Amino acid sequence: MQTDADPTTIIRSAGSEPPFVETLARIKEIDVDHELDVYDARRGVHQQAMTLGFKSDQAHYLVTALTELANNIVFHSLGGWVAIHQILESSTDPFALPRTGIRITACDRGPGIRDIEQAKQDGFSTTNSLGCGLSGVARLMDQLDIVSSENGTRVQAVMWARGEL
Ligand SMILES: Nc1ncnc2c1ncn2[C@@H]1O[C@H](COP(=O)(O)OP(=O)(O)O)[C@@H](O)[C@H]1O
Ligand SMILES: [Mg+2]
Repeated sequence: MQTDADPTTIIRSAGSEPPFVETLARIKEIDVDHELDVYDARRGVHQQAMTLGFKSDQAHYLVTALTELANNIVFHSLGGWVAIHQILESSTDPFALPRTGIRITACDRGPGIRDIEQAKQDGFSTTNSLGCGLSGVARLMDQLDIVSSENGTRVQAVMWARGEL
């Protein structure tokens, strides 16, 4: 399911740091129930990365991370969706450079991850597969945040654009 961009502005401030202003625009949201759904999402994140000026190695890492998270929905959950957001971050500090990022969100309807730290370990799998999906996403992306209960799991992963934009 393709959706229109839906910009949201978030202002966050940590202690004495000058506040950061984040604008989030939703680029794409895709229901994931079968392996075939993953292809559409892969194309979407690659296209967005190139449009935003990410280098091609970063675009490939984003595709890999999204593939792992979407496959986890297919193989370990009752179904869910992935969303791709563009993040434009600026600071009120005039010396801080603005950043562009892509956030991948993968949500599902359960049964959840029992032990998140264990699931993130390289080689850990409850299905006798490679067990390097979540650990790989942690290495490829700049930020990884997982919340999970028996009602579902939400994984959010962010990558910031590097190099010449
Ligand atoms: N969305 C999810 N819902 C439930 N369990 C999950 C989910 N994603 C990952 N897991 C659990 O975390 C483990 C590790 O995931 P991962 O590193 O992708 O390895 P693999 O998919 O090869 O098993 C999985 O075996 C599974 O037990
Ligand atoms: Mg996996």
